[in-house]
Amino acid sequence: MTASEAVSALRETLGADVVALPGEFGERRVVDWSGLPGEVPLAIIRPRNTEEVAQALAICSRYGQPVVTQGGLTGLVGGANARGGEVALSLDRMNRIVEIDEVSGTMTVEAGAVLQTVQEAASAAGFYFPLDLGARGSCTIGGNLATNAGGNRVIKYGMMRDQVLGLEAVLASGAVVGGLSKMIKNNSGYDLRHLLIGSEGTLAVITRVVLRLRPRPTATATAWCGLPGFEAVTTLLTRAQAGLAPGVSAFEVMWAGYHDAVLGNLPNLRAPLGSPHPFYVLLESVGTDPVRHNEAFEEFLGAMLEEGIVTDAAIASSEAHALAFWAIRDAPGEYQRFIPNHAAYDVSFSIAQVGEAAARCEARLRERWPQALVLIYGHLGDGNIHIVVDVPGLGAHDHDDIDRVIYDVTRELGGSISAEHGIGVKKRHYLPQSRRETDIDAMRAIKSALDPLGILNPGKVV
Ligand code: FAD
Ligand code: LAC
Ligand code: ZN
Repeated sequence: MTASEAVSALRETLGADVVALPGEFGERRVVDWSGLPGEVPLAIIRPRNTEEVAQALAICSRYGQPVVTQGGLTGLVGGANARGGEVALSLDRMNRIVEIDEVSGTMTVEAGAVLQTVQEAASAAGFYFPLDLGARGSCTIGGNLATNAGGNRVIKYGMMRDQVLGLEAVLASGAVVGGLSKMIKNNSGYDLRHLLIGSEGTLAVITRVVLRLRPRPTATATAWCGLPGFEAVTTLLTRAQAGLAPGVSAFEVMWAGYHDAVLGNLPNLRAPLGSPHPFYVLLESVGTDPVRHNEAFEEFLGAMLEEGIVTDAAIASSEAHALAFWAIRDAPGEYQRFIPNHAAYDVSFSIAQVGEAAARCEARLRERWPQALVLIYGHLGDGNIHIVVDVPGLGAHDHDDIDRVIYDVTRELGGSISAEHGIGVKKRHYLPQSRRETDIDAMRAIKSALDPLGILNPGKVV
């Protein structure tokens, strides 16, 4: 049977309002943020509820029709891009916040809910939803789950995996699995939730979720620090974790090259400190008593300055001031404006090895391309750095040689080729470097058990 028969069947069953054909997409974006190529899908299915997702997948299974699931399309590895002959299934209509349960501390949402909307709804109800990343205004809870997103507050609250109590999803056959459990403890057999989190749309379509909310911090202190070297950065991390009770909520590190490039190219950003430093740290800690928390934070930073671990620091005097620090850290959302052909990497190591990894990568890149722009920054508390490389003259898809430099260093130091963005199509070729052959065999066995016809996001991950 042909793909167009599948599209006709989808349209007949679900209607033209749910199944749009290419002439009906309008200005709609169909590819993610990776810059990798994607095809225009044969149709975009926009279900209004779980039952319609189940109906759509049952029809796709009947016709062997491949499907790519799309959330906010902010992914960075091409996972949501359609290949030829695929239909897209978008969760954009399933974006409701269904319920906030104040006693259980949970929020039930549809998977297309936008992260920032969830953060704001949690805050309005007197709670806190801690997952945060630069794409917060567009990315969806379903996409965050499918990629097990990390971001800025993993150091205290964990990754997306740690924010979920219940998860409902639809398998390729159309069978609905999981559910909206609010239980913290539930050891009744295999936990499908954790199998589906991080599966990048290859095992199921996530439809509804119960999120775990946290108490809203009533005191937040934020500082921008200049440091003399990488050893000082790791010392500050260890000392902050021991000395800033109840906890460091962000520890974002920027090498000078990143700082200078974003401040030099984005006129809306202002340098928080008057003089240059080899490293910058955005340090945030949360607590409950604003006066005591600020005093303790200032005292801690005073001690770090005295000991020479920090050379200079600015403490945010208001929320707007803190947001101005965060704007420098969120600048990756603006790369397209000044380095449209850049190559981007998302690697992790033990925290102790991050300095050596960054130094090796930078030295080898400079040896090969002395004129390269190399920006290094990331979530040091999680051992996760991003390396962005722009080589004048190299095109947006001309990155194989740069890949080899970065992934050679990653292999030498036993790191991971993907800390938080996932594999998608971009890193599929390098997966055997970070996982054993037997792991990949097990992943393939799970894939063929749950999606025997291979219709869910084929060609991605494994
Ligand atoms: P999409 O891009 O639409 O999809 C991503 C993948 O998930 C695809 O494989 C897709 O098929 C699958 N998928 C989407 N929805 C579902 C669903 N309901 N069911 C099953 N599969 C689904 N990531 C981090 O981890 N940390 C960061 O700090 C971070 N910062 C970022 C900053 C910027 C400026 C940008 C552009 C991206 C950043 N990201 C970061 C990337 C991150 O993966 C995405 O922002 C987000 O998690 C993806 O959500 P999305 O809804 O846009 O998913
Ligand atoms: C960041 C994204 C790129 O941390 O993961 O900026
Ligand atoms: Zn990141």
